[in-house]
Amino acid sequence: MEKLTLAIDVGGSGIKSMVLKADGTPHTQNLRVETPKPAKPEPVIAAIADLANIHKEFNQVSVGFPGVVRQGITKGAINLHPDWDNFDLGTVLYDRLGKPVRIANDADVQGLAAIAGRGTELVITLGTGFGSALFIDGRLVPNLELGQHQFRSGDTYEDRLGQRAFDKVGQKLWNRRLNKAIDAIANLFNYDYLYIGGGNAKKIALKLPENVKIVPNIFGLIGGLALWSSQLNHWEQS
Ligand code: BGC
Repeated sequence: MEKLTLAIDVGGSGIKSMVLKADGTPHTQNLRVETPKPAKPEPVIAAIADLANIHKEFNQVSVGFPGVVRQGITKGAINLHPDWDNFDLGTVLYDRLGKPVRIANDADVQGLAAIAGRGTELVITLGTGFGSALFIDGRLVPNLELGQHQFRSGDTYEDRLGQRAFDKVGQKLWNRRLNKAIDAIANLFNYDYLYIGGGNAKKIALKLPENVKIVPNIFGLIGGLALWSSQLNHWEQS
């Protein structure tokens, strides 16, 4: 019987889920619940368990998490809650769901679905936070945190381009900032391709260079399948 993967994408505003077939096509429709507030581990895990119950049928689990993740342990999540610092999400979810679990940074997961696997490919995600992922010939450089890096006048990329900034300055100025950010990032990484995903990618109103592509936000779930076939297997909890 083919293996079914439950893909979960934990975001600052919503938690999304979908079951994927072994060939990457959807086995179920995607579901979304609001991220609990405050977004402490226990209510977030309960929300994931509820989604898993609705989907019912799956053999393994992939989670994209909005912060640094090492061996299934979360190293903080600025847009969730301080309690995620050093939290063993892998073990807790494995105990709760009874299926093997792999966890990676959400932008890393999104990137796994977006990349072609050749050259230097950078992924950024624009949503509640500013995510980033770097791949060299298809191999991930895990946990790149460009979003928390300085962009302008002491502000990080996330300070200037995250959801709070969008709400504050509006679409026009946010787009102008994004244009400058893309220039800065292009000079820093000299990537072959830049992929832009996340819920706010649809707000982009810029003429993008040829090597910059917008990718659908559903890649944050679809990339979960690659977690089970990629070199990231040391992140498994089972
Ligand atoms: C976090 C990143 C994450 C991004 C998108 C940022 O606040 O530092 O790890 O990928 O948000 O969720």
